[in-house]
Amino acid sequence: MSGIKLIDSYNRHLNYLRISITDRCNLNCCYCEPRKRIMKLSHNEILSYEEILRLVRIGISLGITKIRVTGGEPLVRKGIYEFLTCLRALKGLEDISLTTNAVLLEENLERLEKAGITRINISLDTLDRDKFKQITGHDSFERVWSAVLKAHARGFNPIKLNTVVLPGVNDDEMMDLAKLSFAYPFHIRFIEYMPIGTSTFIRRPQISAPDMIDRLKSLGRLIPVKNEIWDGPARRFKIEGAKGEIGLISAMSHHFCRQCNRLRLTAEGRLRTCLLSDRFEDLKGPLRSGCSDKQLADIIVNAILYKPFAHRLTTDSKARVHEQMSSIGG
Ligand code: 5AD
Repeated sequence: MSGIKLIDSYNRHLNYLRISITDRCNLNCCYCEPRKRIMKLSHNEILSYEEILRLVRIGISLGITKIRVTGGEPLVRKGIYEFLTCLRALKGLEDISLTTNAVLLEENLERLEKAGITRINISLDTLDRDKFKQITGHDSFERVWSAVLKAHARGFNPIKLNTVVLPGVNDDEMMDLAKLSFAYPFHIRFIEYMPIGTSTFIRRPQISAPDMIDRLKSLGRLIPVKNEIWDGPARRFKIEGAKGEIGLISAMSHHFCRQCNRLRLTAEGRLRTCLLSDRFEDLKGPLRSGCSDKQLADIIVNAILYKPFAHRLTTDSKARVHEQMSSIGG
């Protein structure tokens, strides 16, 4: 199988797989958590670690070199550190990173280090304890902030802080969050809200990335930072004199679909070729009905032919993605 590459119909080379290992989460963020209670998947419904590792091995044979482990909240799933160790042991992966809300991070930093993970993205939408509770439904700000500082002290680098900018909720904190980049080498990434699932957050009017840049300019000159090969779609800047960076992720106002190199594997084993499209290919069924690696590889190669050229969501359209973010993986 080696030599086959995942090149889609628009000549995009797909080498980045994001894996949601669980749809469960220990926070209920207003922009993510469904309005109505949705049954969480049972243990048998989600892919086992062995099944995920098998798919990753097949992915590597097709050219996947970069993996992000996400959720839900990945650290709530039992056995994750052993899983990460196995992932690290696979030959052919050049980059493995993790997205977490950091509620369980502090006490597990050493286990993460042992598993060889150094690149983490932490969801952090506010620096205010009450607002944290309002956004996430849990009084966990102190825990999360303490984990961020400990991770920094232990040498995790880069630490990216993900902030979904919610008008009227946390947009007044953009400056304070951006100013963290003066004190720490963090990358603070401001993300436009995306209409995924049935979240409780009411979404209009949104603050677009260009509006965000306008506001951030008041902190100093924004020096553009060139994206490296592994970097995602963020438009990156260093505020003059800062140690860290800020980045804008404008999935809605300015599509970056042309450069999209991503595939997503959901907790229940669906392969999604676009975060913002509802189309998927089931891999769990074929996995569990005895398909060979070759057959699974063929399903994957075929699925990428349907990766849309661009998603159709915009800041002012009413369309939304139906599956919940917690099971797709951010
Ligand atoms: N819009 C934009 N970003 C979101 N995330 C989760 N839900 C949304 C949404 N509706 C981001 C959060 C989190 C990451 C996993 O996904 O920033 O850090």
